[in-house]
Amino acid sequence: MEDLKHRITAAADLAELEKIRIEIFGKKGILASRFAKLKEIPGPEKKAYAEGLNRQKEELTQAFEARKAALEREALERQMAAEALDVSLYGKLHLKGALHPVRETMDRIVEYFTALNFAVESGPMVEDDFHNFEALNLPKHHPARDMQDTFYFADGTLLRTHTSPVQIRTMMRSKPPIRIIAPGAVFRRDYDLTHTPMFHQVEGLVVEEGDSVSFANLKWILTDFLRHMFGEVEVRFRPSFFPFTEPSAEVDISCIFCKGEGCRVCSRTGWLEVLGCGVVDPNVFEAVGYKNVSGYAFGLGVERFAMLLHRIPDLRSLFEGDIRLLEQFR
Ligand code: DAH
Repeated sequence: MEDLKHRITAAADLAELEKIRIEIFGKKGILASRFAKLKEIPGPEKKAYAEGLNRQKEELTQAFEARKAALEREALERQMAAEALDVSLYGKLHLKGALHPVRETMDRIVEYFTALNFAVESGPMVEDDFHNFEALNLPKHHPARDMQDTFYFADGTLLRTHTSPVQIRTMMRSKPPIRIIAPGAVFRRDYDLTHTPMFHQVEGLVVEEGDSVSFANLKWILTDFLRHMFGEVEVRFRPSFFPFTEPSAEVDISCIFCKGEGCRVCSRTGWLEVLGCGVVDPNVFEAVGYKNVSGYAFGLGVERFAMLLHRIPDLRSLFEGDIRLLEQFR
């Protein structure tokens, strides 16, 4: 009996324990043969013998169940140890990329207008005098050409100083109605805190037949657009001059930093100038051969928007390719 118990508790694994179980508890097992002897036992001793056997069976069953539970726990623990993950190990490093703030700002501007069914147009960066100046009502020797310091090539072509020539190219290759924006790089001989020789503009142009397009349409869309970009700002249209629009306006938003109180960024005026616009000048329509049409146009500097939106103090930092700047926009 003690010997059987010992074999149970010494079983090394579940397979061995199962063998022992069959040997002891099986149909032809040790216990079965002992119970079979019961009928050979003489009457008076039968009861004591049977009780002894039952006690044995009881004890062996307990020993078996205990060993089985222990072996199962061991097996489970072994399996868990084998499958364990070392959570203190360093994982693979996945560096997140970032859009350049100019790209991201440009995308947001373009998204606003494409949602309103504006088509996105582009034109060459190397332009000629006609598209960059002449057709935009800036005749040779016009004093307004002094507003833009131009990079000229020897053959008289130039790097476009604004995206407005895309207006001319679009009108000359299509008919009204026109509803476009033209994002792209432009070039000027300028270099300081707020000017770089290359920067980006988005031009807008809407032209319809007849006189249906007015300054009121322009005012509505630019107000809505600026609130889309800057949140709940005040928008102010200030009379100004551009050769290609009449009347012309510069558009200001209430300073997003001081809420109009007056601070360093807005030079204590409470206002930030953000774009130029106007009703297309009849001379521009004449240059492209349009008659009986009306339209509005606007132009804005993308870097200026990006600087305001992200509080970037020096425009030049946008083009130095310093990874530490980009890392801030992840
Ligand atoms: N072309 C102008 C510039 O480079 C911006 C501009 C102002 C464009 C008014 C327009 C406009 O279309 O109507 O400064």
